[in-house]
Amino acid sequence: MNHSPLDKGKEMWATRLGVILAVAGSAVGLGNFLRFPALAAQNGGGVFMIPYFVALILLGIPICWAEWTMGKYGGMFGFNSCPAIFGVMGRKRIWQYLGVFGLIVPVIIYMYYVLIESWCLGYAWQYLTGAMNSALGDDPNQYAAQCKDYFNQFTGATHDGLMMDGRLHISVIVWIVVFGVNFLLIYRGLSKGIETFCKYAVPMMAVCALAVLIRVLTLGTPNPAIPEQNVINGLGFMWNPKAVVDEGSNWSALAKPQVWMDAAGQIFFSLSVGFGVIINYASYLRKKDDVVLSGLTASATNEFFEVCMGGLITIPAAFIFLGIAGAQVSGNFDLGFKTLPIVFKYMPGGQFFGFLWFFMLFLAAITSSLSMLQPAIAFLEEAMNIKRHLSVILLGILTGGGSLFVIYYSQGLMALSTLDDWVGTIIIVVLATIQTVLFAWVFGAERGRKFANDGAEMQIPRFWVFLMKYVTPLYLLIMLVMWCWNTLPGKLIELQASPVAQMSMGLVLVVTIFFLVVIHRAGRRWQPIIDRAAAQREI
Ligand code: ALA
Repeated sequence: MNHSPLDKGKEMWATRLGVILAVAGSAVGLGNFLRFPALAAQNGGGVFMIPYFVALILLGIPICWAEWTMGKYGGMFGFNSCPAIFGVMGRKRIWQYLGVFGLIVPVIIYMYYVLIESWCLGYAWQYLTGAMNSALGDDPNQYAAQCKDYFNQFTGATHDGLMMDGRLHISVIVWIVVFGVNFLLIYRGLSKGIETFCKYAVPMMAVCALAVLIRVLTLGTPNPAIPEQNVINGLGFMWNPKAVVDEGSNWSALAKPQVWMDAAGQIFFSLSVGFGVIINYASYLRKKDDVVLSGLTASATNEFFEVCMGGLITIPAAFIFLGIAGAQVSGNFDLGFKTLPIVFKYMPGGQFFGFLWFFMLFLAAITSSLSMLQPAIAFLEEAMNIKRHLSVILLGILTGGGSLFVIYYSQGLMALSTLDDWVGTIIIVVLATIQTVLFAWVFGAERGRKFANDGAEMQIPRFWVFLMKYVTPLYLLIMLVMWCWNTLPGKLIELQASPVAQMSMGLVLVVTIFFLVVIHRAGRRWQPIIDRAAAQREI
């Protein structure tokens, strides 16, 4: 079946629950369980929730609704890819080109995200077989060093090329398996692959997370010799307001612009907003399908997993066994992959819970990584007029090559963190800004609200129009300016100093140029449909 635009035989979600679980599955991921707790603990604990919820209400939910609406609108004209949907919303060719951000964000993030996903499955396997616990030995004084060593060996963080040093490293084998499963599911299609998988994987992930949570909350005071290291104090360490500058009060965190930036960045990453994913998923809805309640339900599900699960597991568990020093982690990977294995070593039933934890992370990650592939699959099919197996092969080569690049340049995880710093952090905000301007100012926020409310089970309130036109863009603009002011100079220096970082940016550039060329060629074919859509809008 050729997927030309306006193809009425195009793919659709089979059920409403299916689409909600698919979007929730995309949102709930490593960001919820690794990134969020580390950020919250570093940025003032409970105080962090103020900028976090402000960002959720002023950025996350408004833009999320806009993405659902734009996706459904584009889908009405047979389009599923971000460049084509931007074209139909904005009419001018420039919007099609700007849609390239909706392709590079998911594709580039996939290249390193799938790798972390494979570490999760690899660790789960090592726990299941008992290899992990034996690798850490029996001397508690050695646990921390062993965990670090283990992680460095597993990920190749010690030097470049470790993963391909002449033998098939275990983490490369797991990566091949995970990469293959992702593409197999994508090949099966939207409903048979993604939807069916998410219908089982999301509830299974919830059960695993709940089991680990119950284990952590019932730990009591495992070491009577250190009574202050108990569950209540663990929760307090995570959630009580803390000062993040030396002489400040508990509320001093709120005076730091970086805390607000981190909170907003977390909302984007966690909700998969500014990823080009929701816009693509929503394009497979039918005309009378609801977007308002579905969007809100998917976001609420994400918040439940983030705050109630992610926020109650990792840091409290680390505090209970390792005290303040153990819970004061600096990076996302340090917490999940280096600190928690020590916790599982101490914890009764640790081998089983270690398996459950990493398997749960794997499920959370795969439902997210699948959503990062579908936007580009849809694009290749509708822009190049190719069939599914060809689009899958093409995207497999592109993302496989990129992912191997990240695997090879593993020293200090430099390639991975460069791509995450630029694409997984700032380009997301750039895409969100483009979407906001397009939706609120070019298409018209009020027109968008009417379209969203048509067939919806709850109505988007009128003040959303005001938010989308003024508050959200201003917030985004301030974020971008602040990033350029505070972070950009440092990032440029890092870039100058590291050839691997430069090559990583080169990779982003090559992928961008490739997509731009394809958009350019497809644009001529799309234009008559876009013109027809514009004429219909005039009526
Ligand atoms: N939203 C996904 C996550 O949180 C990407 O990991």
